[in-house]
Amino acid sequence: MEFSIKTLSPETAKAGCIVLGVHANQDLTPAAKRADQAARGALRKALADLPGKAGSTLVLRGMAGIAAERVLLVGLGERTEFGENAFRDAVRGAGNALRELGAKDAAFFLVDMKVGARHLTWNLRNAVLGLREAFYRFDQLKSQKKAPAAALQHVAFPLSSKAELQKTLAEATATADGIDLAKTLGNLPPNICTPAYLADEAKKLARQYKLGIEVLERADMQKLGMGALLAVASASHNPPKLIVLRYNGAGTGKRPRARLLAFVGKGITFDTGGISLKPAGEMDEMKFDMSGAGSVLGAVRALAGMKAPVNVIGVIPTCENMPGGHATRPGDIVTTLSGQTVEILNTDAEGRLILCDALTYAARFNPEKVIDIATLTGACVVALGHVASGLFANDEALAAEVLAAADEARDPVWRLPLWEEYQEGLRSNFADFANIGGRPGGAITAACYLARFTRKMKWAHLDVAGTAWKSGREKGSTGRPVPLLVRFALRHAGRK
Ligand code: BES
Ligand code: MN
Ligand code: ZN
Repeated sequence: MEFSIKTLSPETAKAGCIVLGVHANQDLTPAAKRADQAARGALRKALADLPGKAGSTLVLRGMAGIAAERVLLVGLGERTEFGENAFRDAVRGAGNALRELGAKDAAFFLVDMKVGARHLTWNLRNAVLGLREAFYRFDQLKSQKKAPAAALQHVAFPLSSKAELQKTLAEATATADGIDLAKTLGNLPPNICTPAYLADEAKKLARQYKLGIEVLERADMQKLGMGALLAVASASHNPPKLIVLRYNGAGTGKRPRARLLAFVGKGITFDTGGISLKPAGEMDEMKFDMSGAGSVLGAVRALAGMKAPVNVIGVIPTCENMPGGHATRPGDIVTTLSGQTVEILNTDAEGRLILCDALTYAARFNPEKVIDIATLTGACVVALGHVASGLFANDEALAAEVLAAADEARDPVWRLPLWEEYQEGLRSNFADFANIGGRPGGAITAACYLARFTRKMKWAHLDVAGTAWKSGREKGSTGRPVPLLVRFALRHAGRK
């Protein structure tokens, strides 16, 4: 789907469909009013059939006085209640309707609405992301493909073409590409999306965008002493990988934006729980346990695709968590790359084991800020549900930046504490500490475990167990938190 910015008027735009907004009580937006006048009041007459709710839609065909083949009217809800949520609902409703319609091109007049105090760039970004979301499909593994969903080839945004908006448009499409990549990697089954597959995807990105890449193999990990990562991978026939992908968009100067960001993503391509085996019900959903890794690849793709002036490394520890004759046993003690020893009391708490070695490894690159992203705990899902990702940080300024980026990207997070009192749960009689605390505060003790490996860095941890994917009928990857990571990096680069 191509996007462009063009000066257009609703009555003369030659498009398969023009998309116009209408508030409740037949309260037309300026563009809709203009189209209505050209159509001699025919739009207003049809409005009786449009429910007032934000996101409801009504299609009109062959309107006299209007050049476009179709008019798609989109409900915006009460004018007094109009804000970010209504805008998002309207974009989503419009996207779904455009998909059903099968129009080849559209002019999207909703984009210039005033959404609270948000800038026009915010509208444009959210319109692009919302439309791409509506058109995302994962049907590559169905033998019978549905009718091509991608009929919509072109969307024009009727705005005056300022450099700033063009830049936003390029950023938004690249972000959508990154989100799509994260979704597709998450949706792929665990027999296809293996650690080697993720490494190949990273190599593809490296080729396409001229990124630096390094992939550590099992032997390299042994030499380095990554005892925790190796313990998780020990029963798996698919060998583990540690991927380091580097994008140098800001050069090597001393400017603040050139300072390195590190994104570290949990890449468990399937989590059986290991010897601490998970129950059978819904175990298939543990293919999404590489979503952190997928979001890192997605964010790097987005940033490289838009040529963002930032330096980022993506560090991805990836393996399967399998039972077997070589599997790690509950009670095994291993030495991590940091030198600290860990008693593995539960092999299902494997995410923190692969992350701790990856975080220690990431420190070698001397990043200014580190964010890890992981589907880490069921406890985080209990605490925050599927709306907010859990945020933990050992630095107040970094926490504030992540919160601000999350707000701008509409990719919400909620901060949870990392207080020393919670560390008590990890004590072990036999090693430096254990890999689990008790059930209480499970998301926090998991973060506290990671905090023991990041004391010298400005570090934030995102627990995306509840937000990276959906279960039930709409089962699938959401692509979160790619929007947040991209926003965060752009803020770091000084973009508003
Ligand atoms: N990948 C899971 C966390 C998870 C659970 C993600 C549900 C998405 C949905 C993680 O590896 C895990 O198994 N965590 C355990 C930790 C426990 C053993 C301390 C959990 O949350 O039960
Ligand atoms: Mn697990
Ligand atoms: Zn896991």
